[in-house]
Parts: sequence; structure tokens; C-alpha cells
Amino acid sequence: MSREWWRDAVLYQIYPRSFADSNGDGVGDLPGIIDRLDYLQDLGVDGIWLSPHYPSPQVDVGYDVADYTGVEPEYGTLDDFRTLLAEAHRRRIRVLIDLVVNHSSDRHPWFVESRSSRNNPRRDWYVWHPGRNGGPPNNWLSTFGGPAWTRDDGTGEWYYHFFFAEQPDLNWHNPEVRAAMYDAVRFWLDMGVDGFRLDAIGTVFEDPTLADHDSPLGEADLLRMRLEGPAGRPHDDKRIAAAFLRLFGRQIDQPGVHEVFRELRGVIDEYDDRLLLGETSRIEYQGTGDDELHLVFNFPLLGTDRLTPEWIRANQRLRLGSLPGDAWPCNTLGNHDTPRMTGRFGDGEHDAALAKVHTALVLTLKGTPVLYNGDEVGMTDFLLQDPALFRDGISTWAYRTAIALLGMAPGDAAAGAARLGRDKCRTPMQWAPAPNAGFTPPGAVPWLPVNPNFADGVNVADQERDPGSLLEFTRRVLTTRRRLRPLVAGEYREADGGAADHIAYVRSFDGEEVLVALNTTAASVAARVAVSRQLTVALSSHRAPGERLHPQEVRLAPFEVLVATVG
Ligand code: GLC
Ligand code: CA
Repeated sequence: MSREWWRDAVLYQIYPRSFADSNGDGVGDLPGIIDRLDYLQDLGVDGIWLSPHYPSPQVDVGYDVADYTGVEPEYGTLDDFRTLLAEAHRRRIRVLIDLVVNHSSDRHPWFVESRSSRNNPRRDWYVWHPGRNGGPPNNWLSTFGGPAWTRDDGTGEWYYHFFFAEQPDLNWHNPEVRAAMYDAVRFWLDMGVDGFRLDAIGTVFEDPTLADHDSPLGEADLLRMRLEGPAGRPHDDKRIAAAFLRLFGRQIDQPGVHEVFRELRGVIDEYDDRLLLGETSRIEYQGTGDDELHLVFNFPLLGTDRLTPEWIRANQRLRLGSLPGDAWPCNTLGNHDTPRMTGRFGDGEHDAALAKVHTALVLTLKGTPVLYNGDEVGMTDFLLQDPALFRDGISTWAYRTAIALLGMAPGDAAAGAARLGRDKCRTPMQWAPAPNAGFTPPGAVPWLPVNPNFADGVNVADQERDPGSLLEFTRRVLTTRRRLRPLVAGEYREADGGAADHIAYVRSFDGEEVLVALNTTAASVAARVAVSRQLTVALSSHRAPGERLHPQEVRLAPFEVLVATVG
């Protein structure tokens, strides 16, 4: 059997609302994406993953789906989607879409029916329970703040939502729900979509006993932990992770998820060559290696604000050591929920150089890399000062709650809420040193403010003219990757003897070896790499291709990225 395409692919996440606005309403759209497919082809990516493009009230920027087989009118039409698919395929770019199965929008006709009466045939499509002593059924919280239950005045019962109240959880115990979702899946597969990124997949079941969590923590603590925690996912820090597990353990990763994955995989396997990529870091959801998800994200790599060689090596050992069968890894440096990699993994002084190191890392580790739109030009987080501009409900909740429950001053609450929320990494794509960074025509008002650093070279057009830019560097790494098969398909082996100031590893395939050495410091370092034959530079941030090096005498320049063939 030939190797599946997705093992070799470089994927690129598009956040549709912020990618490219074709009609001047300040909102990115499908025609905007179509206009930029040449850019993506030149960049050298093999597939795109679109964050949700479905009709949605946009409470959670599309992750609240009101129709699983349509297109958000602000983004275009189903015909636009078909054109996007055809134009992408013409350029050999695969198209993945987001599949939000845990919950729908509260405006989805299914939920409108479900809430209409206690004996509506769709009542059981969602998770309804009577209250307890006039309050919610139990003490569970929503991960986005506040109780996980909202009372429906019409019927007097409470519905469950792990996320915002406008995102009621579907009841995955109900076979009709499953069948309806699989129909939607087939609808897109029939159209030619290449696969799905499965949203929030670990949350589809909750503990059926509805037992209270036994954590002493409440909403205020939840907020405090989040404000304190590393800027990324809340469960990154071990201490915080343990506290979160006590709070949310009954609401995530319950038995039954494997069965859903096997079913879904069955649907996917009715078609050739399609992909299931789960928004989870749990390798066990890859099943035996070929019966559940094809890929899950290596989020633990991001569980730090310092990508030190020790951290990366430990991460790789653990991840690669636990893959079942011939399951394949999947690495990323961030997405629309995390801080931007430039800045986050920087040191405040050499962020640009470190961005190249980390780009090279994610593109040369073993696994399918997933890039996030804008990271290739080094876009950084943009913290909104004014709470009136917040679009992410997490920020709105954090701002309100920090004042009300933590007694914070409004200014501090706003700053904390901006850092905690996700607007910061969702600002419009920076295409050019032009008004609105070229995202939307001059005069239009983008849905989120543009980061002003577009004027300082953080944009596509300027970087295309600058051979030293991050964009051109990213292109070069992608070109090198395509040329050297071991970088794509090879095994991974450590080659740095546990050094603290650099990381080096060998990717090997079919008798060929490629060395990757990354200096993560601002000093020049001696790297005695564990290979026995001569090296030939394939790509370096500091030297010319073709240069020959002795493996015992490699001196890496500050923040050097070195990719060399062995022998
Ligand atoms: C996922 C999405 C996030 C969304 C949440 C609820 O984590 O990535 O953006 O808010 O699910 O759908
Ligand atoms: Ca638009």
C-alpha cells in the first residue's frame, strides 16, 4: 500500500474570518481565500484546514454551528465553497474542514425544537436535566466560565454546555444524533472534502451519574488559575493541570469516545484517502494505529513558554515512544486558541531569530506539521486595550468576573482579560504595508483591529521582497523538506548527546540521513553531532548550501538553523 498523503503533507490552518476580505465588509470570506490560493501554493503547503465555515451566530466565531451542511452567508455560498475546493485541488492543495460535534449553536433548528417542549422528539438530542433545589443539576462549570448548565424558562429544565451557553452539548448517546452528524460528514465527503479537524472531541460525553466534582474550586478560582497559568492552554502547567482535572474530570474523556471514533472512522473509510485529525493530544485516540483518528496534535510540545532542547527531546521521547502501530505524529506551534509562536517562544530580544529556529523545528520533526496563518510572517499577539473591542466571550467573561469576583481594578482586569482571551491571535492576516494591512480594502472596518506592526515589515508583501525574512526562510525550509525525503518520512534519532544549548537530530529513511541542528542560544556553540560521516549543508540560516562540514567540528552560529545531508 502506498503511503497516505497526510503523512507527508504540510498543513496550514486558515481562520476564515481573519484571512482575506474580498468584498469590504471587514470580514474574511471564501472568495478571499480563493484569491490567496496561489500564495499558499507558492508557500508550498499541501493542505489547508479551515476553521468553521458553517452558518453561525458567531458567538464563538463559527464554533457555534447553526447548520452543518451550509456556508456562513458572511463567508459566501455553497457554490463559493465548491469553487474553493476545485481551485485548491487544481493546485494540489487538500482541503480539511472543521467538524464541531460536541455541541451546536443554540440557534440550530435541532436545539430550537429540543427546547420547545419536554416531549419534543428532539428533546433527547441534547443533555437536559431537572434542577436541584432550585439550582442547576450539579456543580459543574463551563470551561469558558460560569455554570455548565443554563435553565430554559419555557420547560423549566436545564441544558448542559461545556462551552458558552449558546453552545448546548449534543447527546451522543442518542443514535439519531450520531446518524445526523454522519450524514453531514458524508455530505462534505461526497463533495470532495479531504477530511476533518475534529473540534473539542474529548468532551462529547460526561459522567452519566452527574456526580458533583469534588474540587473546592469555584468560578473565581477558575479565573485566577487561568490568569496565572501560562499563556497557552490552561492545562499546560502540571499543578494547574491537576487542579483542572479535579474540576473537569467528569466532563471530559469519558468512556465511549473510542466507540464514536471507530464509527466515524468507518464513515471516513467508505471514501478513499480522507483524514481525521483530532483536536486532542491523547495518543490513545489513535486506537490501534488504524482504527480511530489518523492524527492527534502534539499539544504537550506547547506546554511551556520556553522551547528548550531538554523540553523538546523529552517531548519527542514520550510522544514517539507511545505511538501505537504505525500511527503518525502531528506537530504544531499554535492555533486560533493559543498565543502566537513569535513572541510566546521568544526571549523578548531575539524573537525574530527564534521564530526561524522554531519554524525549522516544526517542519523537520517527525510528523505532519500544521502551521497557523500569519505565523509564517511572524505575526504576534495583539492585546486589545479596550474591553468594548473584545470579540472573544472568554475575555468578556474574564473582564466582568475579574472585577466582580476578584475585585480587580478595571484597567488590570482588561489587561488580564486581553491576555487570557483569544482575540490576540485572531487579528486580520497581514498581507501588505497598506491600509488595514491589505486584509480588507481601505476605508473598511475589520472585525478585529489590525496589529499595527504590519507597518514594520510584519506582512507578506514586504517579506516576499526580503530574502532574510521569516517568510522566505519558511519557503526555503519547505523546499528543502520536499527535496530531502528523510525530512518528510524518516525516523527520528537524537544526535546531540543531551546538550543544553542546542538540539540536533537525524531523520533517516531508506539508507539516507539528514541532520537537523538548531542553536537555541545567542552564543555560538560547539556541536559534536552523533553521526559518523561528512555533512553537506542543505540549508542554513548562516551558511551556503553545499558547504562540507566535519561532524566533530560543527560550530553553530547564534540561533543557527542547520540542515545537512549525511555522507
Ligand atoms: C475548540 C476550538 C475553540 C472553540 C472550542 C469550542 O477548542 O478550537 O476555538 O472555542 O473548541 O467549540
Ligand atoms: Ca467579506
